[in-house]
Amino acid sequence: MSTTAQRRVLLAAPRGYCAGVDRAVIAVEKALEQYGAPIYVRKQIVHNKYVVQTLEKQGAIFVDDTEEVPEGAIVVFSAHGVAPSVHDEAEAGKLATIDATCPLVTKVHKEARRFADEDYDILLIGHEGHEEVVGTMGEAPDRIHLVDGAEDVANVKIRDESKLVWLSQTTLSVDETMETVGALKERFPLLVSPPSDDICYATQNRQVAVKQLAPEADLLIVVGSKNSSNSVRLVEVGLEYGAKAAHLVDFADEIDLGWLEGVQTVGLTSGASVPEILVEGVLQLLAAHGFEDVQIVKTAEEHLTFSLPKELRRDLRAEA
Ligand code: F3S
Repeated sequence: MSTTAQRRVLLAAPRGYCAGVDRAVIAVEKALEQYGAPIYVRKQIVHNKYVVQTLEKQGAIFVDDTEEVPEGAIVVFSAHGVAPSVHDEAEAGKLATIDATCPLVTKVHKEARRFADEDYDILLIGHEGHEEVVGTMGEAPDRIHLVDGAEDVANVKIRDESKLVWLSQTTLSVDETMETVGALKERFPLLVSPPSDDICYATQNRQVAVKQLAPEADLLIVVGSKNSSNSVRLVEVGLEYGAKAAHLVDFADEIDLGWLEGVQTVGLTSGASVPEILVEGVLQLLAAHGFEDVQIVKTAEEHLTFSLPKELRRDLRAEA
C-alpha cells in the first residue's frame, strides 16, 4: 500500500456550533430580518472571524462599546455576556437591547450574584481580559477575584477563608481547571465548590472527542479563531493527549501544506463558534492531498437548543 493510500482523517464529533452560539447568531440574523439593517452588536457576537464577516455583510455593525451606538438604535449583546453596568449604559443611551448572552453564561452570573449576596468571596477561574470574565466579574466587582490558572493561586487575597467559593469561565480546559481547583483547595481547605459544572457541556464534549483521537493524530487541525477560548483549549488538549503537532486555523487556506508531510492521520475538529462550512473547506483541501478516508470519532450526542432572546421572541410573536 502506498503512503498516500493510508492517509486518513479522524473527524471529531461533536465539534462546531454549540447551542449558545447557534442562538446568538440566529438572534442577529432574525433581528436584521425583523427590524432591518443596521443592527448594532456589542463585541463580536461569537469569537469567529467568518461569522462576524458574514453578519457584517448582512448589515450588522460590530462595536466595542455601547457608547458607539446611536441613541434609540438596537444593540445585541454577545453570547459571552455583559456586566450589569453595560445594561445600565444601554438604558441611559435609550438603546433597545437584545441580550444574546448564552444561558449557560447567565447561569454563572446568577451563581456569582447569589454567592456575593450571601457574603462569599468568589474565586473566578478564567482568563484575564476575556469578555465572559469581564462580564461575570461585573456582577460583584468587589467580591470576585480572578484566578488565571494554578500559578496564580499564590496571589489570591480574600477577606474570609471560611466563606469562599470557586466558579469558572465556561470555556476552559477541564483538566487545567481541576488542577487550579486542587491548588486552591490546598491553600483554602474550606473552599466551596459550585452546585454544578460551570465549564459548559459543549466545551467538555469537544475536549473529550479530541482526547479520544489525539493519540492517533500525527497532526491535529482545530478550526477556530485565535480569540476563541474553547478553540485554543482544543489545541492544547490535543497536544497534551498525544497529537504530534496541532494548529489552529480560521480557514482552509491557512493550512501550510508542509504540515502534511509524512503525516498519515490528521485529527480534525472545530471550536464551538465555528460553522460547519469551514470544516468542510478543510476536508476538501485534505481530500485533494490524499486524505479521502474520513472516519468519525464520536464521543457524545448533543441535542440541546435554546430559545431565542425574549425581546426578539416577543416581537416575532407580535408579527406572527
Ligand atoms: Fe454557551 Fe458553552 Fe457555547 S457557554 S456559548 S454553550 S461554548
